Amino acid sequence: MTGLFITLEGPEGAGKSTNRDYLAERLRAAGIEVVLTREPGGTPLAERIREVLLAPVEEQMNPDTELLLVFAARAQHLAEVIRPALARGAVVICDRFTDSTYAYQGGGRGLSLERIATLETFVQGDLRPDLTLVFDLPVEVGLARASARGRLDRFELEGQAFFEAVRGAFLKRAKAEPTRYHLLDAAQPLAQVQLAIDALLPTLLERARG
Ligand SMILES: Nc1ncnc2c1ncn2[C@@H]1O[C@H](COP(=O)(O)OP(=O)(O)O)[C@@H](O)[C@H]1O
Ligand SMILES: [Mg+2]
Repeated sequence: MTGLFITLEGPEGAGKSTNRDYLAERLRAAGIEVVLTREPGGTPLAERIREVLLAPVEEQMNPDTELLLVFAARAQHLAEVIRPALARGAVVICDRFTDSTYAYQGGGRGLSLERIATLETFVQGDLRPDLTLVFDLPVEVGLARASARGRLDRFELEGQAFFEAVRGAFLKRAKAEPTRYHLLDAAQPLAQVQLAIDALLPTLLERARG
């Protein structure tokens, strides 16, 4: 039995966490086992790596260091949480995954996509999400929602150009593989976004039940 691996992607403030909970609730109501998790993090050790990644510090973090830390956390998360859950047939809903690495470290930091792909295969083997929901919205809207939440992390402190590159990378990936990605207009009112998620439920339930 293999479960279903769903990832939620997009910038800060796009509504990933809100809709992750919404989707989980809908699937659980239908009797499906759902494991909710997030990246970077998802295990105690990986959450410690997350703190290192997000905390603003004086010393400039080298982009390669950042990339390797992201994949170090991911290796732990896959081994401890994601693979065991999928092996027992659960639906795993993960708030950010490797598409964020392509968007932030690739698009934002300008690291080579080939290097990211090499690490992706090294850490994940052939495991890729079954479905990726991309929450897309204009950069200013995301930044406004994120800063309304309080203190900004090391990524949220980046500027407009960084986030435009992040957005562009997500959109490019979604367009290149329309069967795996589902693009959502996250600038709409939440109720509209949730209607779009509801529309995916019949297919998701069918796939989750194998
Ligand atoms: N479609 C939406 N319209 C308006 N506000 C939203 C919408 N989706 C989420 N929000 C609000 O924006 C903020 C960020 O949402 P959140 O789910 O935490 O985003 P993310 O996890 O992508 O950073 C929250 O205050 C949330 O209530
Ligand atoms: Mg969130």
